[in-house]
Amino acid sequence: LPSLPTEKGWVAANLHQYQGFWHTTRQLAGVLSCQKHFQAKNSDILLVTNPKSGTTWLKAITFSLLNRSRYPDFAHQHPLLTNNPHVLVPFLELDLYIHKNQLPNLSSFASPRLFSTHLPYISLPKSVKLSTCKVVYLCRNPKDTFVSLWHFTNRLRSISKSSNPIEESFRKFCRGVSLYGPFWDHVLGYWKESLERSERVLFLKFEEMKENPILEIRRLAEFIGCPFSPEEEENGVVEDIMRLCSFETLSNLEVNKNGKISSGEENKAFFRRGEVGDWMNYLTAEMAQELDSITQQKLNGCGLMF
Ligand code: A3P
Repeated sequence: LPSLPTEKGWVAANLHQYQGFWHTTRQLAGVLSCQKHFQAKNSDILLVTNPKSGTTWLKAITFSLLNRSRYPDFAHQHPLLTNNPHVLVPFLELDLYIHKNQLPNLSSFASPRLFSTHLPYISLPKSVKLSTCKVVYLCRNPKDTFVSLWHFTNRLRSISKSSNPIEESFRKFCRGVSLYGPFWDHVLGYWKESLERSERVLFLKFEEMKENPILEIRRLAEFIGCPFSPEEEENGVVEDIMRLCSFETLSNLEVNKNGKISSGEENKAFFRRGEVGDWMNYLTAEMAQELDSITQQKLNGCGLMF
């Protein structure tokens, strides 16, 4: 696998290009292992995102939807009140298959099994593509995704903003060199699948979820096969799930203020502002224009817009 000698790398480590996308060395080991060993079941549900597109939020909502009869008390006794969403819904390549010589035991996962991944469509394990498992893809506009990623990376590696100038990271992002990048190819892979196989791939947008969370939560519930009953609608269960999974609720929980996930990342690193349009505070007009123009070019004619 070629490393990238001319780049210092997005996270101060060499990035490797594999099947057209960029990965850290550690990540890539997980990607290869999960491609080789993961056996999808038709009943599985796979949550897919570009990093910093709202993965944490999507995990919380989907977990709550699937487990709402088991944990009906959203305000007092719910696993999300004491566990970070990433603990409840593991990543295939970053959690379950990250250890080279140790395959995960998935027998404790109740059906439907719920997993997540940042893998681009082309790199999904064969068994996923051959199965009829459900894939939920959540994307976010590239400007906010980039800004969120820049903050997250600085924090993760304890890099100060001054030693990782936003301009440098921006140049790389625009050239497609970012974790699981190029951003646009990642989005397009799933967008095309969602058009061709809409019963298999649901395509969601962070901005639409912020705009109308109730509607999007209902859509998601239907897609994964657990629509709300008239009784649940009447009892406000959709609203309960929306409230529990909101940025305000999750980011203010003790567990998300202080805890860490197994990879050592602080839970609070997954909650920064949770808004649409924060890019305006970081990108110059020229940068925004450049990113818009790349996006326009890349998505030209495909029917997807940000
Ligand atoms: P910002 O950095 O713009 O605040 P991911 O979960 O894919 O790592 O993405 C993290 C981004 O989603 C961060 O964006 C984070 O604040 C935001 N986020 C986390 N939980 C959220 C929630 N419940 N609702 C809305 N946004 C959320």
